[in-house]
Amino acid sequence: MNPSAFDAFAPTYDADFTHTRLGQLLRQRVWRVLGQQFHAGQHVLELACGTGEDAVWLAQQGIHVTATDGSAEMVRATAVKAKQAGVSDRVTAVTLSLQEIVENRNPYAVNRKPITDHGLRIADYDGAFSNFGGLNTINEWRPLAEGLARLVKPGGKVVLVVMGPWCPWEFGWHLLHGEWGTAVRRFRASAPAAIGNDTIPIWYPPARRLRREFAPWFHHLHTESLGLWLPPSYLGHLVDRWPCLFTRLNQWERHTARLTGGWGDHYILVLQKM
Ligand SMILES: C[S@@+](CC[C@H](N)C(=O)[O-])C[C@H]1O[C@@H](n2cnc3c(N)ncnc32)[C@H](O)[C@@H]1O
Repeated sequence: MNPSAFDAFAPTYDADFTHTRLGQLLRQRVWRVLGQQFHAGQHVLELACGTGEDAVWLAQQGIHVTATDGSAEMVRATAVKAKQAGVSDRVTAVTLSLQEIVENRNPYAVNRKPITDHGLRIADYDGAFSNFGGLNTINEWRPLAEGLARLVKPGGKVVLVVMGPWCPWEFGWHLLHGEWGTAVRRFRASAPAAIGNDTIPIWYPPARRLRREFAPWFHHLHTESLGLWLPPSYLGHLVDRWPCLFTRLNQWERHTARLTGGWGDHYILVLQKM
């Protein structure tokens, strides 16, 4: 899969998702977790950073971010946003695909150099992070975990926001609309998604699968639901229509998210490098 397919989304991504009421509710929930796990002065590696909304927020908290994405246009948008926010000294935007991390997971053994081919430094990061489904574009999570294990310092936190298979909103909505194939797409091995002019496979790993793949190098700290009572982003118009209802549902979800774990449109997995 070539992540440059996402270039076409870069100009409209913020208007279509980031700045929507639903997008803001969801992202604030992620920021709460990031605020608990990362601290000023740390250096965090972000994967699939999109237009840099989180990188800028982290930088505003005093955290240095190496923000990577496979789409050069997304990376460019990140650099522009960091500059506009006056935090470009704390955000390094790099074009880098997840596949490159997967393939370079053992650079020490191959070339005995302390720096990977893509310029990331071994054991240099206090933590790593990926938001809103960037990781759903690959299914090589164990090699990714191994790659991250080389980059993150012992004790460093890893926060992954991933789309899982158990999304009652998606199932119920498409069932009601007679769209059985879409209702059950998350239970298939992978589901095709139209990205610009391309169609790419999307994988929906259950949280327990990801925990298992990361277990050789990372302790599991907790998992929480994101978007169990709130709908998926393509139903954001419902949130615009009934803002009070969904604000309450979001509050409820915030309090119960750890009980519902891997359920929801996304889940947030928090791990710690051994
Ligand atoms: C849904 S967006 C999420 C963006 C951002 N994390 C956010 O919170 O808004 C998915 C991002 O993953 C990136 N992406 C998809 N596949 C990728 C891959 N294989 N390697 C690196 N980035 C990838 C896309 O370019 C896009 O920016």
